[in-house]
Amino acid sequence: MLDLTGKNALVTGIANNRSIAWGIAQQLHKAGANLGITYLPDDRGKMEKKVAELVEPLNPSLFVPCNVQNDEQIQATFDTIKDKWGKLDILIHCLAFANKDDLSGDFSSTSRPGFNQALEISTYSLVQLSGAAKPLMRDGGSIVTLTYLGGDRVVPNYNVMGIAKAGLEMSVRYLASEMGGQNIRVNAISAGPIRTLASSAVGGILDMIHHVEEIAPLRRTVTQLEVGNAAAFLCSDLASGITGQILYVDAGYEIMGM
Ligand SMILES: NC(=O)c1ccc[n+]([C@@H]2O[C@H](COP(=O)([O-])OP(=O)(O)OC[C@H]3O[C@@H](n4cnc5c(N)ncnc54)[C@H](O)[C@@H]3O)[C@@H](O)[C@H]2O)c1
Repeated sequence: MLDLTGKNALVTGIANNRSIAWGIAQQLHKAGANLGITYLPDDRGKMEKKVAELVEPLNPSLFVPCNVQNDEQIQATFDTIKDKWGKLDILIHCLAFANKDDLSGDFSSTSRPGFNQALEISTYSLVQLSGAAKPLMRDGGSIVTLTYLGGDRVVPNYNVMGIAKAGLEMSVRYLASEMGGQNIRVNAISAGPIRTLASSAVGGILDMIHHVEEIAPLRRTVTQLEVGNAAAFLCSDLASGITGQILYVDAGYEIMGM
C-alpha cells in the first residue's frame, strides 16, 4: 500500500551515510519515489563529491547545491525542479546548524550572531523552502521536517537548538494551516537521539543516547532507516488525513515521566 511511484521528492540534508536524510532518501527510493538531492556546497567541492558517490545507487534525477543561507541557490534549486520535473510532490527538510559553543554550557551565554544563525538555518529555512515548494505542488504534496524533544522540553546542552526546534514545530502548524487548502500536508518527525555529524556537536550526546537506551519503552534508540520509514509513511496516501503533527519516532521515550 505504501507506493510513492510517480512522486517527485526533494531531499535536503544528506552529509554522509549517518545522516537521517540518507535513511529517508533510501526509504523513499524503496517506495518508488523519483529523487532530487541537495547538498551543502563548500569551496573545494568535497561535499559534492562525497554526497554524489553516496546517493548514486538511488539514481537521483536531480543533484543540486543548496545552502539555505543563499537565496540565489534556493531559487536555482526550485527553478531546476520546475524545468526538469514540472511539479514537486514531496519536500524533506532535514537540516540544522548551531555553533558547537552554543550547544553546551549556559543558555544565557548564547551570542546574538549564534542565536540568529541557528534560527536562520534550522527554522527559517523550512518556511522559505516550503514557500518555494508551494507553487510547484500542483497536485497537493507532503512536507516533512525533523525535530527533537529538546524543542518541547528542556534537554541539557540542547540550548539554542531547542529554541530553533520550538520555532520549527510552530512553523509546521502555521504552514499546515496555510497550505491545507491546496492539499499540501506539513508534518514533523521528532526523532530520538542518533549519532550523526550534527548531533556530535551537542554536548553529552552519547550520554543522551545511553539514557534513552535505559529509559525508553523499547530500551533502545532508533535508526535512520526507522525515521525513513515514518517519513515514507507521512509522504504517502496512507497519511492523507494527517497534517500539522509532530510524530515521535523515539522508541517511546517521550511518554516517560521518569
Ligand atoms: N541526530 C539526532 O539525534 C537528531 C534527533 C532529532 C532530530 N534531528 C534533526 O535531524 C536533522 C538532520 O540532522 P542529522 O542528525 O541527520 O545530522 P547531519 O549532520 O547528517 O545533517 C545535518 C545537515 O544539515 C546540513 N546543513 C547545515 N547547514 C546548512 C545550510 N546552511 N544549508 C543547507 N544545509 C545545511 C548539513 O550539510 C547536513 O547535511 C536536523 O534537523 C536535526 O536537528 C537529529
